[in-house]
Amino acid sequence: MMEQLKQELSAAIDAADSLDALDAVRVQALGKNGAVTSLLKTLGSMTPEERKVEGPRINGLHSDIADAIEAKRDALADAELTKRLASETLDLSLPAKDRPKGSVHPVSQVMDELAEIFADLGFAVATGPEIEDDWHNFTALNIPESHPARAMHDTFYFGENQMRDGQPMMLRTHTSPVQIRTMTDQEPPIRIIAPGRTYRSDSDATHTPMFHQVEGLVIDRDIHMGHLKWTLETFVKAFFERDDIVLRLRPSYFPFTEPSAEVDVGYSLKDGKRIIGGDPNTEEGGWMEILGSGMVNRKVIEACGLDPDIWQGFAFGCGIDRLAMLKYGMDDLRAFFDGDLRWIEHYGFSALDVPTLSAGVGA
Ligand code: DAH
Repeated sequence: MMEQLKQELSAAIDAADSLDALDAVRVQALGKNGAVTSLLKTLGSMTPEERKVEGPRINGLHSDIADAIEAKRDALADAELTKRLASETLDLSLPAKDRPKGSVHPVSQVMDELAEIFADLGFAVATGPEIEDDWHNFTALNIPESHPARAMHDTFYFGENQMRDGQPMMLRTHTSPVQIRTMTDQEPPIRIIAPGRTYRSDSDATHTPMFHQVEGLVIDRDIHMGHLKWTLETFVKAFFERDDIVLRLRPSYFPFTEPSAEVDVGYSLKDGKRIIGGDPNTEEGGWMEILGSGMVNRKVIEACGLDPDIWQGFAFGCGIDRLAMLKYGMDDLRAFFDGDLRWIEHYGFSALDVPTLSAGVGA
């Protein structure tokens, strides 16, 4: 009888063509009321002599069946996996169905280009908060209260009951406070650029309440204006990807630099369009202001707790949106922030075009 049961169960195990069917056989044989389980239960009512003979046979049957089920389970699982792998193959050489969606905004693109160009010159990228206090945004930059420069900045102040450490708070009007934060946080020598958002209460075709600037700061021993001029020339040539670019430094005034210079870049006319580079001293050529700069004022260095007799440096500040417009040919600044998909599809950059100096920073 046991031989017959074993044959029946073995046949059922062989015949099981799925894991579910196999499990049904398992329950039928080894479950609580299964055929083999019932046989095991009969051992209790046997005499010791009978049990000596039957025990090993029944237990042997139990383990044979359990082993056979286990082996079949492995085989079925293998077969199922093989089937799935065969049906789930992907042809990676097929073209993607849709064009990749989304693109990099020209402002982000230019910030990446700046980081790449200045990294090559040994500059790190620094950041600071967009909500600033009076001291960092103005006072430490040698713009004391009642200084006319404050009125010129069209500042967005927070309410009178929104003070931080007794200081009025505001949306930063320029990236220059990052100079202060860097000098108070780090030991010189310092070489940083600080790109980011800035805010002024101003709005027309060339001004938006939020815009972008990049600040540059170098603090070291024996730094002079020659370093400033070379750095700016190298930067502007790399950015516009032309060697025939001339800069003009005009004396100017900023409270945080002494002496100060505004920097113009030469443009010329090509196919009826103004392009950066070429000879500015022709009928159609001319100069375009692109940034403010100068040697960091001693008072600023002192305000940051450094000795201006040991540490000097230069700084510059530049509008990123304007750089993007000049390089990539947009003419209305407001379109930068309208969020019009057609605009970004036209002017945006592929996320895979990471600017590198070796391949040319522009896309
Ligand atoms: N912070 C100035 C502005 O927003 C720009 C500027 C000028 C920054 C001269 C500088 C600098 O670092 O040296 O108008």
